[in-house]
Amino acid sequence: MRWLVVGGGAREHAIAATLAQAGAELLVASPNTNPGLEHLAIGSRRLSVTDVTAVVAFAREAKADAAILGPEAPLAAGAADALRAAGIPSVGPGQQAARLESSKAFCRELLARHRVGGQPKSLVVAAPEEVDPAVASIGGAFVVKPDALTSGKGVWVQGADFAEDSEGADYAKGFLVQGTRVLLEEKLEGEEFSLMAFVTDSGVYPMPTVQDFKRSLEGDRGRNTGGMGAYSQRDHLLPFLSSAARDDAVKVLEEAVAALRAEGLPYRGILYGGFLLTAHGPKLLEFNVRFGDPEGINVLSLYEEGDFSELLLGVAEGHVDPNLMRFRLRSTVLKYLVPPGYGSQPKAGGLLVLDDAAISAEGVHVYYGQVDARGPGTVAMSSSRAVALVGEASAIHEAGTRVEKALAHVTGDYYVRHDIATPEDLERRKEHMRQLLVPGSKASPLPLSVAAPDAPASSAGPPEQLT
Ligand code: GLY
Repeated sequence: MRWLVVGGGAREHAIAATLAQAGAELLVASPNTNPGLEHLAIGSRRLSVTDVTAVVAFAREAKADAAILGPEAPLAAGAADALRAAGIPSVGPGQQAARLESSKAFCRELLARHRVGGQPKSLVVAAPEEVDPAVASIGGAFVVKPDALTSGKGVWVQGADFAEDSEGADYAKGFLVQGTRVLLEEKLEGEEFSLMAFVTDSGVYPMPTVQDFKRSLEGDRGRNTGGMGAYSQRDHLLPFLSSAARDDAVKVLEEAVAALRAEGLPYRGILYGGFLLTAHGPKLLEFNVRFGDPEGINVLSLYEEGDFSELLLGVAEGHVDPNLMRFRLRSTVLKYLVPPGYGSQPKAGGLLVLDDAAISAEGVHVYYGQVDARGPGTVAMSSSRAVALVGEASAIHEAGTRVEKALAHVTGDYYVRHDIATPEDLERRKEHMRQLLVPGSKASPLPLSVAAPDAPASSAGPPEQLT
């Protein structure tokens, strides 16, 4: 089976590595020369991943049997439709369904039309003069989201990215004067988690849940980024997330897929819900239409060797065998090595030297991100995330320790968040959720004793509809 992987980052490296473990042949279409992908591929082409014509031409020439689109940009550009039209089964939604991610307004409006649960109060604003009334109508702290793809970096949250209402309003107006709509949404309190699922004609197949660390600096300070690292827990839940709360989030995914179908938009790909666990259950912050980066890498690192090609082909062709949902019961911790200043003023061009064999010997997987090969063991960093190191172990802290040890085998001028998923960090997150909950309250969706996935949990509060 010959797969075309579109995209050149660590997520695509992880997808390719998992396919290679299943005996697949790999083709790679990407703008950069990723050494991890190059090592695995029998053929590759440098191209812009949004150049749909070039992607399809390469797929045809290189005789790809199937394709998977890694990032959102080619999906938003219609690459999955074009590949399918060329007779190549593909993992990824068509352009219209990809608007779940490329247009936050489309997403919220669709979900409101179909009364999908778990939505925060959200207003779509189309003109600068609508901003102040919308802020007043939210009636509390708010979040500004441009209605465009911003690689996770455009969202501004009150209290973190701006203090006064007027600053957030000005940020929103800056997009509006350039013709980009914005969403203003109520700011909710809670802990974020990511739930990805394979979605195809035969159903929705959830993967293990993951928590992403979006802020650039330790202690969750700094700007929003694509994600500095992430962890997952052995039982596929999270220290603060019960199975009941996870199931509520799965329901949101299922309802959204049903809403798409009802509007004539079938979906064959990966659907990723970014949720906030609040005192009233999971609330949907956003949908993405692909594997998370980094979250997809955590999950792919857990896939049992052997069947991934069959699983993905099932997604592309419309029928998944549930027996192929085979993720190891292990914990993972992922930390991204990034150029100094990443998140604000990244310094591109620095070199990293890695001893892959020594890193693997620590029980850590290496996935190369947006870098270019510069000879054996050496890569040049761009302004984006450079290398993902993923520790796998029984316990989360053990997986994190493995990554920290592996850093001894990397030299260069880079930044990494050492605080990701440390015991102190996880305790802080659990405590945060405990404080949000009134013990014994019917609104509580999760057990107060953490890490007890099968403990009974009361039902989430009634779903809120958009206003
Ligand atoms: N880690 C966030 C994203 O993949 O969008």
